[in-house]
Amino acid sequence: MQDRPNISSGASDITLETALEAALSWWDIVGVDTPAISPAKPRRSAAKTPAAKIKPSKTQSITPQNTPTSTDNNERIKAAQSLATSAKDLAALQKIMAAFDAGTLSDNASQLVFSRGTPGSRLMIIGEAPGREEDNAGKPFIGPAGVLLDHMLAAIGLTEADVYITNIVNWRPPGNRKPSPEEIELCRPFFMRHIELAAPDILLLVGGVSMAALTPLTGIMKNRGQWQDISLNSQIIPALPIYHPAFLLRRPELKKEAWRDLLALHARLSGDIAP
Ligand code: URA
Repeated sequence: MQDRPNISSGASDITLETALEAALSWWDIVGVDTPAISPAKPRRSAAKTPAAKIKPSKTQSITPQNTPTSTDNNERIKAAQSLATSAKDLAALQKIMAAFDAGTLSDNASQLVFSRGTPGSRLMIIGEAPGREEDNAGKPFIGPAGVLLDHMLAAIGLTEADVYITNIVNWRPPGNRKPSPEEIELCRPFFMRHIELAAPDILLLVGGVSMAALTPLTGIMKNRGQWQDISLNSQIIPALPIYHPAFLLRRPELKKEAWRDLLALHARLSGDIAP
């Protein structure tokens, strides 16, 4: 079986049999409704290991970058920065964003698509931007890519109860296009504050847009599966870039690489922090 993953995760609680079972279910993409692998400490415990204690390998700063923007956008970015800083918790951030004038983005979207899953989860998942289904429902990753994302998570024993999911851009870009660099810069104060307030132990950067927004890297094909250390307020958050599920739907032959990345994620969540 050429597509079969090579199972060498180092995760202590994955047996060959259960990992194969999960992999095969996931390959079929018809529903992994009985996860074969039990969740690896999905929720943060009171005795959370500070992320800062994890030895950084490649520390990335997520301070705002100098992307050229129009005067209007610069004004909006300033407003976004001050509003984002004023948010004291996730609910406040959501309320502020829902009322924010994000120009073309908020003018064309039906609503803000803030998050789904469980605040306080150890794992925060960050995608690109909502699509049509997400725009209609007000929740990220619920269309075909979201269904695949859920299957991928289920293959390592995670459900919506164990993860917190959002996007770099929280309004659907018109016509489902990719968010522009200016739009990403406008949203930067919000997604940075979102990460700060969610305070995850681990970030999963879903797709090239998310990776490029949060690290200096470009090119998901060459950088997927390589742990990055993101520096945020003197804390280091390990971040794993992976293929976007929408990309995997178009390139199913790449699922074996995605499966390796999921095993690495599971190993890290299990406490085996060596990438
Ligand atoms: N793709 C994303 O990146 N995010 C969504 O919420 C949906 C599709």
